[in-house]
Amino acid sequence: MAAPSEARERRPFGRRLLTDPARLFQHNAWDNVEWSEEQEASARSKVQENSSQLLPQDKQEEYEVNAKKYWDDFYKIHENGFFKDRHWLFTEFPELAPNRSSSQNGDSGSGFSNTEESNNEGLGSCENGHCSLETRTGSQLNLIKSPPRGHTEELAAQNDSELSQNGGDYPGLAASYRILEVGCGAGNTVFPILQTNNDPGLFVYCCDFSTTAVHLVQNNAEYDASRCFAFVHDLCNDQSPFPMPEESLDIVILIFVLSAILPEKMQCIVTRLSRLLKPGGMILLRDYGRYDLAQLRFKKGQCLSDNFYVRGDGTRVYFFTQDELDHLFTTAGLEKIQNLVDRRLQVNRGKQMTMYRVWIQCKYCKPTTLQP
Ligand SMILES: C[S@@+](CC[C@H](N)C(=O)[O-])C[C@H]1O[C@@H](n2cnc3c(N)ncnc32)[C@H](O)[C@@H]1O
Repeated sequence: MAAPSEARERRPFGRRLLTDPARLFQHNAWDNVEWSEEQEASARSKVQENSSQLLPQDKQEEYEVNAKKYWDDFYKIHENGFFKDRHWLFTEFPELAPNRSSSQNGDSGSGFSNTEESNNEGLGSCENGHCSLETRTGSQLNLIKSPPRGHTEELAAQNDSELSQNGGDYPGLAASYRILEVGCGAGNTVFPILQTNNDPGLFVYCCDFSTTAVHLVQNNAEYDASRCFAFVHDLCNDQSPFPMPEESLDIVILIFVLSAILPEKMQCIVTRLSRLLKPGGMILLRDYGRYDLAQLRFKKGQCLSDNFYVRGDGTRVYFFTQDELDHLFTTAGLEKIQNLVDRRLQVNRGKQMTMYRVWIQCKYCKPTTLQP
């Protein structure tokens, strides 16, 4: 019999299956693609090849020390333009808007395929090693390009030192449902949550170590300080406090963020984040899977360590297996609700090209009772 947590797993991804190879170019994306042994072997050999020469130690250290600068530079160049807003958020993670009905937000409830079908940008969106994480849909985001608000820098400097120790007071104290997104970037997850989740008890925190990214969030026309608090926080600095107390959060979201961190530091980060969860609270993750197209495209000389690479712009990326993520979360004391691999075949019908994407999606829950 399946373990209770496995029984709760579902397969939420799209259901457009490629049963007849002749139909390959009839749609933009195919779901739950099975890899043949040859394809797996070919991917393994590409990875062996591109990781056969590691970057020297001094270079590796330089990328670690200057990680924030490289992401700042990234957001200065791309602002909010690179990562797209994501209609799949609420079908995959209904926990982000528990009161929402499935007909809201133009969502048909059938996973990724329908949103991807409505456009044709699946390919050609890889730039400087960053592969667009999803396809573009009509933008929900309402962004303005005004200069940073005056209080932004002060907030950034304050939050690490004062806000968490402010006599028990903290942003979002009065809320009944608290969500934290770490590594929020330009806010492509936060703003859809604020738009979609109308629970008056909702409060959304979001942080990033890139001050440029946090400025983009704070200067967004949709930023509402009564419902949201964006702050600068370096996940790798375990001395830096969060602005909310332990056991205060219902949800922590990590979307393509853990992969940007030095693998040796991941466990400490996950363990710290799990302490912020209320009993019954959940960490939600979506991130790169092993042998994703982005990994296979790296060239020799870009590998830092096993499955960890540096892009041309100095930002780094790791490619996970399901077991590695399971180990990180269970070591932090969390229980598996979901740990799925999403293998998708994206098709550019115009260019008659195919692209195999591999993403992993996890939900891990903090137990409500103490384990024996
Ligand atoms: C691939 S981007 C994803 C951004 C966002 N989650 C999204 O999906 O649009 C990775 C993000 O992680 C942030 N990041 C990387 N290392 C970090 C760290 N040590 N502390 C906080 N944020 C970090 C980067 O600044 C960047 O915004």
